[in-house]
Parts: sequence; structure tokens; C-alpha cells
Amino acid sequence: MELCSTTLSFSSSTSILNFQSPKFPKRNFCEKISNPTLPKPFLQIHGKPHTLIYEQNSTRLSPRTYRPSISAKSGKQSWDLGRFIKTLYFFNGPPSPAKFFDFLVGKLSSPSTSESVMGTSDIVLVAGATGGVGRRVVDVLRKKGIPVRVLVRNEEKARKMLGSDVDLVVGDITKDSTLIPEYFKGVKKVINAVSVIVGPKEGDTPDRAKYSQGIKFFEPEIKGDSPEKVEYIGMRNLIKAVKNNLGLRRGKLLFGFEGESYRELSWGALDDVVMGGVSESTFQIDSNGSENGGPTGVFKGVVSSANNGGFTSIRTKNFSEPEDLSAYDGLEFRLKGFNTEKGKWQLIQLPFSSLRPIFRAKTVSDAPPFDPSNVASLQLMFSKFEYDGKLNETFVEGPFELPVSSIKAYINDPITPRFVHVGSAGVTRPERPGLDLSKQPPAVRLNKELDYILTFKLKGEDLIRESGIPYVIVRPCALTEEPAGADLIFDQGDNITGKISREEVAQMCVAALESPYACDKTFEVKSVIPFSEPFTVDPENPPPEKDYDIYFKNLKEGITGKEALQQNPMPV
Ligand SMILES: NC(=O)c1ccc[n+]([C@@H]2O[C@H](COP(=O)([O-])OP(=O)(O)OC[C@H]3O[C@@H](n4cnc5c(N)ncnc54)[C@H](OP(=O)(O)O)[C@@H]3O)[C@@H](O)[C@H]2O)c1
Repeated sequence: MELCSTTLSFSSSTSILNFQSPKFPKRNFCEKISNPTLPKPFLQIHGKPHTLIYEQNSTRLSPRTYRPSISAKSGKQSWDLGRFIKTLYFFNGPPSPAKFFDFLVGKLSSPSTSESVMGTSDIVLVAGATGGVGRRVVDVLRKKGIPVRVLVRNEEKARKMLGSDVDLVVGDITKDSTLIPEYFKGVKKVINAVSVIVGPKEGDTPDRAKYSQGIKFFEPEIKGDSPEKVEYIGMRNLIKAVKNNLGLRRGKLLFGFEGESYRELSWGALDDVVMGGVSESTFQIDSNGSENGGPTGVFKGVVSSANNGGFTSIRTKNFSEPEDLSAYDGLEFRLKGFNTEKGKWQLIQLPFSSLRPIFRAKTVSDAPPFDPSNVASLQLMFSKFEYDGKLNETFVEGPFELPVSSIKAYINDPITPRFVHVGSAGVTRPERPGLDLSKQPPAVRLNKELDYILTFKLKGEDLIRESGIPYVIVRPCALTEEPAGADLIFDQGDNITGKISREEVAQMCVAALESPYACDKTFEVKSVIPFSEPFTVDPENPPPEKDYDIYFKNLKEGITGKEALQQNPMPV
């Protein structure tokens, strides 16, 4: 496949980041752009003639002091052939006829458009979409015009229930081999309403009349897979399958040191030696140079415009698998002494949305948008050249040094939940000392008989809380088939009992996707209507949709109901 490269520059291209993406459609930019500023050898070194570069728009840069433009001083110095060959060898490996053959075959056989993927828009995946809450979640999302994909076990049942045109993937969360990465392309958020199936011991009618009445009205038993398999192992499989698509709250470390984590990359110098210049750079690890005395990477060298050169860079070898950064909004660098901030550690954010496509140092107006789902390498560059004939105003010849302790992909603030989980009130109660079980719902009383259903639901919740994915856990009290619209009671600490409509829960889950107030919270919810009282609404005059933020605003992080267990641990 044809390889294209994208380059991001931060702060007026004192440094440039270069990402390579194998997924851009093959286009002949060479024909469109004449008179390139950078000479050909720069591009030919990778055997990729259609190199496309993305740089950050300089109007978004942090303030800096004005420096007069520096005109290129060209002198003649002896060129280092050895370094040129070393550079070629580092990025391309030893010359081999087999590689040349592969390259030729790739060129002849690669399609002219990018590979088709299942979808690229921001899709919400609904797991458990054939369930009582799940199918209503699908309805609410559709009514709001939000792209939805469903993960179901039974295609026929799902198409009958949700329509033949539903965007559907077939998988069973208890079997991780069924959750293939292709299913999750384009998925940015998940609403999980999967549940172990609980039904009446004596069986149900075809229209599931007993299920509709609720667990209070029948003697329940587990049908099919155990709670451990569905609620715990299934949750682990589901989280693993979607984690990369949803992203991590604290970002994805691409290079460097962060707390106890370290990620190494194979960096090599790619200096103007490839076009006859004499600039030279390296990337080294300084074992105690970071702001807290730990290790940091250091990009350093000497840049010179002799022999018409004027740039140094370090670039990673292509990653074995391209990085999918589509869950993130940009890159964040922890570095020191950048721009005017001499000697200071800074956090520099470079939003993907601020990138501009560049080919051979010129803006490409009709280039495809930057695709963060296929990042194959990173490059930091210190260059005299900008794009469209401009020179870097801050460029100064001579020695330079840029400590870089980490490079991460980040999510923009405010962060909203990306994994909405429908759990259950009562999950922390079976072990709770001093609880009057006679006043508790059947699942709490029958936890042991139901193969520890609530224990495994809690373990499943813990996996979400520990995953690093921005989440919200909605724990409804007993679910009913009644309409939405009753006033609600939100609570935390896992103490309340009561009932709530499945429709209401579905609406709340969809609203939570957009609410920063709901992020990383666990809460219980019921309606104000007592169990003994039915709740109806006039279909001609339905109640207005609620502003759930009013409730979400009062929620606190870190309350799960497990606190009660920790304060009063059960005697062993
Ligand atoms: N019932 C209550 O009173 C109550 C109270 C509080 C909380 N909750 C909780 O609320 C949540 C939603 O309840 P609900 O009434 O909507 O549940 P439900 O109607 O029983 O739906 C369960 C869904 O999970 C799917 N599922 C089960 N095992 C699966 C697997 N291995 N892989 C993929 N999908 C699987 C089912 O698919 P199939 O159609 O293929 O079976 C179904 O779509 C559940 O977590 C439930 O425990 C319920």
C-alpha cells in the first residue's frame, strides 16, 4: 500500500511532528504542486513520493517574541556520506531485492481509494440492544439522529425488533473471539445494557408477560450463561474490545515517562544530510533530567544551513501496528524550554483540528482531512523552513536542545462519559452487615441462589471504574414497563429501593453521554411513585423530556456503596 506521511508542527515549526498514515487515498500531489521548496531526496528516502504533511496553523500558537526573518546563509562544507547511509539503513533496513519486489507489487496492486471500513462517524454502540432497556436506548438515539450500531447475539431477533436496516454486529460478550476489532470501527461511545438473563422458574409466556411484571412477581432463576460469565468475564471482554475506540481519560501515552509508566520508541536522526546538508541531531535518554529528577528524552544537535540545508529531525521507525488515536483530540507534549519559555517545563497541546496539510512545504487545499486512526510514526523537526515559501522566524543556527519527557494523545475538556453502563441498585448490599433482608429486593435476598448475580455485577462495575475510560454507572431500582415522566429520586451509596421505568432509564443513559456532570459517577435512581401505585401518562400530552443535568450536577465521584463494607467489614 502506498504510504503517505502527515506532519504536525507546533509553535511555528520550531519543531515538527510527522505522522505517517497508510490509509490516505493515493493521490498524485506531485502533479498539483510544482516548484517544491524541499528537494526531492528528502521524500525519496522513504520511497514514498506522495508525502503529505500536516502542520499546525501558526495563528493558534502561543505568544512569542518577534524575531526578524533569518535569511538562509549557505556555505559549502564537506558532506558525510556515512551518516547518509546510516540514516537510510535505520529507516529502511538493509537494501534487499525482496523489499524492492514487495514495493513493486504494492505499487501495482494497491487500490486507488482508501480501504472501506464499517463506518467512520461518531457511532454509539448499544450492547444488549434486544433487551428491555437496550431497545429503548436504540429508539432514543435514533430519534435524536445519533448514529447507532447494535451488538446482539441473535441477528434475526434484533432485525425483527429494531428494523431490518439497523446497523448490526453479531457477538456474544462472553466469547472474546466474537468481538472482532472491525465491529468497533467508528464507535466512539458505548451504552451497555447487557444482562445475565433472569426468568421465572416455571417459564414465561411467549410475550414474556411475567418478565414485564417484574422479578417481584415470580420465582426467579438464571437462564443460560452464569452471572460470572456475563457480568464479569463478559464485561472484561467488552471493555477490552472497545477501550481503544473510547479512549482513556488521562490520555494515551505514546512516548516517555508518566508516573510508573514508560513507553519507548525507536527514534533515529533524519537530518538534512539526506539532501547534502551538514546538520546533525540525536535523541538520547537523560536518566535524571526530567522535572522530577526522573528520566527524559532529549532531542539535541547542531543545525546549520550550510550546503543549502537547514533542518534536523528525529523520527520513529514505523510502529509495528499503526496507532489508532481517533478517540483523542490532539497531542500533548511535556517539554522544556520551548519557544520563549527558557528553562521551564511546559505542557504544549496540539489539537488535531488545527493541522494543515502540507506537501513538499506547500499547503494542499484539497487534501483529505487528517486521519488520526492510522498514525504510523512520529517526527520532531527543527527547521529553517516553514511552508508556502515562508521561513521559520524563530530559527537560529547552532546547537539546540529540547528535552521531551512525554508525548500523549489527549481528550479535550470537558470530558463526558464514553461508557454508559446500566447496572443495578443493590449490588453492594448482599455483603452489607446489619441489613434487614426482608425489606430488600429479591435479587439482594436471593443473591446466592441466583449464582451471586449482584456480586458479579459489582465486580463488572469495578472493571469499568478501573478501566480509565470516562464512564457513568446508572443503577436503577426495579424496572417497569411504565412510561417515562415521573419525578425522580437520585441517590448514591446504594441504599434506595423502589421502581423506575425502562423508558426513563433509556432517556437518562442517552442524556448522560453529553453530560460532564455524569462523568465518572455511580448512582442509583428511582421514581417518586410507590410500587403499589401504577404510573401512566396521557399519550396525547406526554410530559416534556427532562433536563437530567439538574440531577447529574449533584452527584459526587467515588461513592459506590462499597464504603459501607469497608467501614464495617464482615467478620471472616
Ligand atoms: N429487571 C429489573 O427489575 C432490574 C432492576 C435493576 C436493574 N436491572 C438491570 O438493568 C439492566 C437492563 O435490564 P433489562 O431489563 O433491559 O434486561 P433484559 O431485558 O434481560 O436484556 C438483557 C440483554 O442482554 C443481552 N445479553 C445477555 N447475555 C448476553 C451476551 N452474552 N452477549 C451479548 N448480549 C447478551 C440480551 O440479549 P438476548 O436478547 O440475546 O437474550 C438482552 O439484549 C440489566 O443489567 C439488569 O440487570 C434490572
